[in-house]
Amino acid sequence: MAEGRQLELSYVVEQIASCECMVEPEAAQRIAKVCDGQKFRKILEAIQKNDLLVLTCSDVDSILEHTGARVRPPPQPSKGERPENGVSVLWDVKRVYSNASSCDSFVQYFRSRCKKLRSILMHRTFSPRPISSLTRRRQTSEGREEVSIAGLVADVRITRNGHILIEIEDESGSFTVLAPKDGEVMKWASSVVLDEVIGVKGTLSSDGRLLIASEIIFPDISLERAQMRLGGGSDDENAGYAVLTSDIHVGSKSFLEDSWHKFVDWLNGDVGNERARAIAEDVRYLLVAGDLVEGVGIYPNQERDLSIDDVLEQYEVLASLLAGIPHHIQIVLSPGNHDAVRQGEPQPALGEQVRALFDDGIIFVGNPCVVELNGVRVLMYHGRSIPDFISSIDGLDLNDPITPMKHMLIKRHLSPVYGGSVPLVAEPEDRMVIEHVPDILHCGHVHIAGHGVYRGVRLINSGAWQAQTDYQKMRNITPTPARVPVVELSSLKTTFLNFR
Ligand SMILES: [Fe+2]
Repeated sequence: MAEGRQLELSYVVEQIASCECMVEPEAAQRIAKVCDGQKFRKILEAIQKNDLLVLTCSDVDSILEHTGARVRPPPQPSKGERPENGVSVLWDVKRVYSNASSCDSFVQYFRSRCKKLRSILMHRTFSPRPISSLTRRRQTSEGREEVSIAGLVADVRITRNGHILIEIEDESGSFTVLAPKDGEVMKWASSVVLDEVIGVKGTLSSDGRLLIASEIIFPDISLERAQMRLGGGSDDENAGYAVLTSDIHVGSKSFLEDSWHKFVDWLNGDVGNERARAIAEDVRYLLVAGDLVEGVGIYPNQERDLSIDDVLEQYEVLASLLAGIPHHIQIVLSPGNHDAVRQGEPQPALGEQVRALFDDGIIFVGNPCVVELNGVRVLMYHGRSIPDFISSIDGLDLNDPITPMKHMLIKRHLSPVYGGSVPLVAEPEDRMVIEHVPDILHCGHVHIAGHGVYRGVRLINSGAWQAQTDYQKMRNITPTPARVPVVELSSLKTTFLNFR
C-alpha cells in the first residue's frame, strides 16, 4: 500500500473525467487503494500526455511502474535552503491568460463558471432542464408539475411584500424565480448572492410567468462526502503541525514586529511552556495566505502609514524575518491584495525579482492555490471576497470571518459576486470555483482570527500581524493580531497561540 492517505473513489473518477477520459471501475478502485496525491497526479499527467480515452488497470500499473523508476531521493537542505519534500502544490495559478477581460473571455468565463458548478449540482441527483423549455411551457400552459432549473443568478430583489425574486440565466434563456415570504425556501433564498450558480425546484405560477420555488439547491459539499471526511486528518500519526498565518504587512507602521519576533522565538524553542515548546518542535510547515508586506500605493495617502516606503525593501525585510525560522520548516507564500502582483484575482505567485530576495526552497504560490501537507489538502485563499459576502447576505458580521468562508463552500466559489470589491479577471476559465473539497480552507484579509468546521472542512482565518488601522477603527472592526492557528495534521485539531 502506498504511503499517505487513500484517495476517495469519487474524487479519482471526477479528476479522470475532467481529463475527458473514461476509467474502468477496477482501475479507479486500484488508484484509490494504492495511490497518494503525488502518484495520482502522475497518472493524470500521463492521461493528458497520451490523450488516453479509457484508463485500464494495466495502464495504471504501467504508469505507476514508470513513476516508481523516476523517484529521486529528497535533497538534503543546507543553510539558507528549505526542504521542498512534504509539500505538494496540487493546484496553482500557473497560467496568466493574455486575452482576459475581452468580450469573448467574459462569455467564456461565465460559461466556464456555469459548466463547473452545474456539474457539481448534477452530482446531487438534480436534473435541471433548459430554461427555454419553461418559456415554451408558459406558452402552452401545461399544468403545475415540479420542474427544476439551474443557472447564474443575474438579479436578486425583494418585493414590497417581502418575497424574493431571483432572475436565473442559463445558456438557453432566463426566468424569474419567486421565493415566497412565508415559505421554507426563504432560508435558502435569503443567502443567494449575485452571479453565483444555483439550482431551483418549484412549480410554475398559473400564468406561467414565474417559477414558485420550493427548494434552492447550492452546489455545496454533499452530506456523504462530509460524513466520509469528518474529523479526517493525515493518515500519518507523526505528520506534525502546520502553522497558518497571513497579513504580516511588513513595511506598515502598525506591523507588530515584537510579536513576530516572539513567534519566531517560539518556533526556535526559546519561549513558551512545555506543551508549547513540544508543539514548536514538531512544526513542519508555515503557510502565509497573503498580504506579506504592506505594499505601496494600495490606498490613498498610504505613505503616511508606511515605515518602509519601497516595496522591494519591504520584501527584503520580510525575507530576513523569515530567515529566522528554523530551516526544517517548509514555508509557503501566497500573495494578497497588498502584494506586488496583479490585483485581479486569481493572482499569480510573486515574480522572480521578489523571489530572489528569499531563502532557496521557499515555495511561492498564487492566490488561490491548493497545497497538500502530508496528505492534508489546504485551499489557501487570501479572502478578499469576505466583505462581499458580508454585504450581500443578511445577518453576517464584519467581526466574524468564518460564516462568509462557510458560504464559499456552500456556493463552491471563492468570490462569486462580479463587480463587487474583488477585481475578478474574466479569463476563459473561472479558476475561483472550488472544484475539489479541501480538508482545510485557509483565509486571511479581515485581520480577525477564527476557526470553525463545515461539513468536515476546517475553516481557519489566520488573523494578522498588524495592529488596528484607522480604516478598521472607522468601521468598528476589532482585529485580533498575533493570534496564530496551529493545526495538528493527524487530527486537524487547531490551537490558537497568542504572541502579543
Ligand atoms: Fe491584510
